[in-house]
Amino acid sequence: MLTNLKLMAAKTVFICSDCGAHYPKWTGQCPECGQWNTLAESQLQAEPKSSGSKRRFTEFVEPQKIQLLADVQPSKSLRVGTGQQELDRVLGGGLVAGSVVLLGGDPGIGKSTLLLQALAAISANLSVLYVSGEESVEQIAIRAKRLNISGDRIQIIADNLLERTLKACQSNNPQVLVIDSIQTFYSESFQSAPGSVTQVRETAAAFVRLAKQTGCIVLLIGHVTKDGLLAGPRILEHMVDTVLYFEGDRSSSFRLIRGIKNRFGAVNEIGVFAMTDQGLKQVSNPSAMFISRQSDPVPGSIVLAAMEGSRPLLVEVQALADKSQLANPRRLTVGLEATRLAMILAVLHRHAGCPLYDHDVFVNVIGGVKIQEPAADLAIAIAILSSYQNLTLPSKLAVFGEIGLTGEIRPVQKGQERIKEANKLGFDQILIPNANYIKKSKYAQKMISIKHISEIPTLLREL
Ligand code: TYD
Ligand code: MG
Repeated sequence: MLTNLKLMAAKTVFICSDCGAHYPKWTGQCPECGQWNTLAESQLQAEPKSSGSKRRFTEFVEPQKIQLLADVQPSKSLRVGTGQQELDRVLGGGLVAGSVVLLGGDPGIGKSTLLLQALAAISANLSVLYVSGEESVEQIAIRAKRLNISGDRIQIIADNLLERTLKACQSNNPQVLVIDSIQTFYSESFQSAPGSVTQVRETAAAFVRLAKQTGCIVLLIGHVTKDGLLAGPRILEHMVDTVLYFEGDRSSSFRLIRGIKNRFGAVNEIGVFAMTDQGLKQVSNPSAMFISRQSDPVPGSIVLAAMEGSRPLLVEVQALADKSQLANPRRLTVGLEATRLAMILAVLHRHAGCPLYDHDVFVNVIGGVKIQEPAADLAIAIAILSSYQNLTLPSKLAVFGEIGLTGEIRPVQKGQERIKEANKLGFDQILIPNANYIKKSKYAQKMISIKHISEIPTLLREL
């Protein structure tokens, strides 16, 4: 990356739309973040127009008062409920005054819908302003009608000029401000197009300042695209207090909100919604949702008792192992880590006598959920074995457990909570690591504990 000094001398620079790094020459891959095809040519505007006068002004400014940390009395951060418990849960109990939340996600996933629904609830107590740089006020009104939102307390403007929006905020003093989306906003001080890294960074910084100075809650919507035109919200992640990502398969109606960063709560919490014809509806029992309702059990399918943040979630893991026609058999995962699949296949071969080197192996988590914890290992291994040996497993069997390289089944955290959730959903056999087994547990009868992966092939046949 160039230093600032060098930057000022350069006229044309290439900026990575993903991480914001600058380069004097174009390259196919950004050396900073490793993304491909993200460098875009840009005319560098080294300093905002008013920079000269600004420097002189700072000479007369009083320095900030230095205080002792112990003397600072934090004002009680009251949480503002969004009317959507699933969203509140990801936020850590609601919105905090003066905080900035970034909601990222693919286009069309439901970001505008969710925040409009949240504003409808928030506006009952607080003054809110929705600024749309993407849609006209009529379009927002049509959506509000569809969502059955009266909107008599939701103030809206369609604008994408930063300075004008800030002025509107000054005169209106909203307590909650929604910017939809940050990529459409631009500031007059910079020449680059809306959505460029400079514009996104500077406009976001202005909204962050607004939040910190006035105590207004700012919700920024950000797009995640890979086409190189729009700056991804990654560069914004450092500036804001909370980053939420909207995930989900667009073909299915389920949507997950995941907390990636949260200065006011735990990360990796998820909120679950379903997109209906009347907007997003919360799903209070997500486990039931992700398990497919096949009446007859089939080979290659197993239910995993996963943890998402503090919440147990049952998901179905499916595998297909099929004789490969290729010199290099295919290994594909959807919703799981590909590196773990490679490791599990090696362990299955070495310790469970299951040679899959000439098989294509596909593993998939149903419902567009992403599972990243090692506790999924055992489910993946069992699903693969079940498909490979064409063994049907009982439909009321759930599993969890990590697999070590020596083939041992390692304990995972929050075992009892996983077992409890599986029990709640009517699973009567739960395959668990031996170290997670508790003799005195009231679910002890349902638990089947294993120590080593070599036990699995025989065990599956007996089930
Ligand atoms: P939107 O909130 O506009 O997405 P984003 O702001 O993330 O781009 O949601 C768009 C999608 O949601 C669109 O494909 C239509 C669908 N939708 C419904 O299915 N039901 C609804 O009630 C609404 C408002 C939208
Ligand atoms: Mg939108």
